[in-house]
Parts: sequence; C-alpha cells; structure tokens
Amino acid sequence: MTENSVPDRTQVGIVGGGPAGLMLGQLLHLQGIDSVILERRPAEHVIERVRAGVLEQTTVDLLTEAGVGGRLHREGMRHDGIYIAFGGSRHHIDFSALTGGRTITIYGQNEVVRDLIDARRATGAPLLFETPDVSVQDLDTSRPRIRFSERGRPRELTCDFIAGCDGFHGICRASIPAARFRTFERIYPFGWLGILAAAPPASDEIVYSHHDRGFALFSMRSPTITRLYLQCAPDEDLDRWPDDRIWKELQTRLRTDDGWRPNEGAILQKGVTGMRSFVVEPMRHGPLFLAGDAAHIVPPTGAKGLNLAMADVWRLADALAAFYTSGNAGPLETYSDRGLRRVWRAQRFSWWMTSMLHKNESDTAFDERRQLAELDYLVSSSAAMTSLAESYSGAPLG
Ligand code: FAD
Ligand code: DHB
Repeated sequence: MTENSVPDRTQVGIVGGGPAGLMLGQLLHLQGIDSVILERRPAEHVIERVRAGVLEQTTVDLLTEAGVGGRLHREGMRHDGIYIAFGGSRHHIDFSALTGGRTITIYGQNEVVRDLIDARRATGAPLLFETPDVSVQDLDTSRPRIRFSERGRPRELTCDFIAGCDGFHGICRASIPAARFRTFERIYPFGWLGILAAAPPASDEIVYSHHDRGFALFSMRSPTITRLYLQCAPDEDLDRWPDDRIWKELQTRLRTDDGWRPNEGAILQKGVTGMRSFVVEPMRHGPLFLAGDAAHIVPPTGAKGLNLAMADVWRLADALAAFYTSGNAGPLETYSDRGLRRVWRAQRFSWWMTSMLHKNESDTAFDERRQLAELDYLVSSSAAMTSLAESYSGAPLG
C-alpha cells in the first residue's frame, strides 16, 4: 500500500516502521530533513501488535515535544510508582517521591504507533507498508541505496544515510560484515505468557510479583483492560493454557495476604515471548545507523525496550540535524558510543530486575534465600528503592 509516492532519493532512508522508525521520521520532519519509511508488514498489523506499555518520563516528554503527545496525555495512565510483591505482601516504591517528581505512564506501544502513523500521514511524507524484500547496498560509500519493491515493481532509493530501525530480526544489522561488529548476548531459560483481559484493573499501579511458582506481572491498558504476564517456558505451548488455567495460575502468583487479587474477565489476546539480553557494538557501520531493537534487546522486566528505542532515535535525529544545519559530523561520530552507555545501563537494570524476580530452575537453595534477601533489602532501604526508581523512570536524554 502506498501512503505517499516514494522518490528515488532521500536524505534518510528508514528501514522499519515500528516505534523507532516512525518516531525518527517524525523528529526528522520537525527538523526539515526528508526521509522515507519502508515497513515490511501491513499497517493494521503494526498498529494492532500488542507489546510494551510503560513509558518513562523521558519518553513522555519526548513524544510531547515531538507533537504526538495529545492522546497520550488524555488517555495515558500516569503512575507515581510500582508495587513489588513477595512472601504474600505488596510493597510500594514511590518513584515520584524518590526522584523529585519523575513518573511513568501506561500507554500501549500500539497506541504510540497509531499516533505516529497519524502524524506521518498528516505530514504527507512517504511511508510505505508491505515491502517484504528490502535490502541495503553500498554501505562502504557515501551514497548507500535501499532496494525494495513497490506493488511488485523493483525500486531503488539512494540515501545520504540509512537508519536500521527494523527490529531484532531485521536485515540491516545482518548486512554489516561480521568482522566489523561484536555482539553480546544472554538467553534466559524462561519466557512470559502475556494476556490482555476485559477486566477493570484491580490495582492503581503495576505489581511485579515474585512467587515460588514463578514470576507474575499485573499491568493495565485502560480503566477497563488489564494486562497480565506469567513466567513460563521460553517455548511454552499456548494450547496447554486454556483460559481457566491461566486465571488460576495468575491468581496463585499474584494474590497477596491483604486479600488483593486481579479482577478476571474475557481474555482478548494471548502470546508467549522469549527473553534475551543482546547488544551490538558499534551501533553504526558507515552511513548505516542502527536504532532500537535492531541494535539491542533487553528482557522486558525493566520495561526498557521501547524507551531505549526512543532515546536512540532522539540522539540520531539530533546528530543528523547538526550535520545538515551546520555540517558538524561530530554527533554522528559519537552516536554509537553515547548510545551504548545508556544501553548498557539499561541492560544491567533489566538483567537485575529479571534475576531478582524470576524463578530459575538451576538455582540452588542458597540462590533462593539470596533472592529473598535482595527483595527484603530493596523494600526496606530508601537507597535501594531510589536506585530502582531512578533506573525505572529513566535518565534524562543527553
Ligand atoms: P520493532 O517494534 O520490532 O519494529 C521494527 C519494525 O521493522 C517492525 O514493524 C518490523 O515489521 C519491521 N521490519 C523488520 N524487518 C524489516 C524489513 N526487512 N524491511 C522493512 N521493515 C522491517 N519495552 C518497553 O519499553 N516497555 C515495556 O513495557 C515493554 N514490554 C514489552 C512486552 C513484550 C511482551 C514485548 C515483546 C516487548 C516489550 N518491550 C517493552 C519491548 C518493545 O516492545 C520493543 O523494544 C520495541 O518494539 C522496539 O521498537 P523498534 O521500533 O526498535 O522495533
Ligand atoms: C508491561 C510490560 C513490561 O515489560 C513491564 O515490565 C511492565 C508492564 C506492560 O505491558 O504493561
């Protein structure tokens, strides 16, 4: 489907129309820089894909400044903190009080994507869906090209720069010669079974729960929709999880001794996600810049993936603006190093949250006691809670 006609040349060719690619397009548009966004899947698929839900203060500020915060401010659910539950009790961590007013906002990733697609369409700038055969060429030159087909017709787009915003399984990272980058990876021996349910949220804030039977997470999307996750096997077979088994397991893992438990309702959507930590260094090869999940993956426990993607494209748009307005290539040169610092901090935090809250079959009795001691320390030390609050609510950009 052609949104707007695609030229033969552009300043920035963007591969991938997920949150990273669409936000980059919006930020570049605001700077007067041309871009073309090519997305392999249909628009409806990208809009309906249920994924992240927690926006850091930093991401909310960025979306607002980029002129796409209207619905987010009307419909997003602002939270001052989170609950950590273990041993039958819930403990509140008040981010706002601990960080001088920083908060998080619950607003589905699919809603962010919907707002960004609307904004792109309003600008009239090119956004092409259903381009399954994208490839990038001439990455060793200053005139890189993107090949793709438009309604079956082969096309070529010459660019000054290419932004690889095509997610973990995309083609951009795979187009860099192996000798030119290094990867770092950890695969976790568990996954999350996530559901969306037509039930009013039973808590005003998210609940991360440690339980002998495995981790569970209570979240929400709106005053009528609850979002819940259960730790499961990375390759869990959803057919083994009829709705009543899901609810029974969620109730067991989330219920606390004060009588709190999630409300139940019709299950609207189910899915299983594996968990990994992954980083590529550097996040750049010549005129190709990687951003978002194309460059790094975090396990979802710290709610960092979408937020990191937003920080990447802010930095990239800012660096491209410096290049086009004053010929200063310095910020482009340091794009990767500056980004990796934030990425590794988020990796540390996501790994820490994941290891503190999940049950790992290979853990010894010692490890289990250590995990409980970690949780006990966290909820009884304001220094420990402040550390979590700072990392979770997100460092300011720059
Ligand atoms: P993607 O969303 O993967 O987008 C990449 C796009 O590129 C896709 O639309 C894809 O179709 C397209 N593409 C791929 N290959 C090609 C190609 N060859 N040509 C053209 N297009 C291509 N993050 C948070 O911050 N907070 C959370 O609470 C959170 N929870 C999560 C819960 C779950 C269950 C999951 C799965 C993820 C969660 N994340 C969370 C992570 C977050 O969803 C991702 O980090 C985010 O989607 C990254 O955005 P992206 O644009 O970089 O990549
Ligand atoms: C949600 C997802 C997460 O990964 C997380 O850590 C918290 C909440 C959510 O989908 O609402």
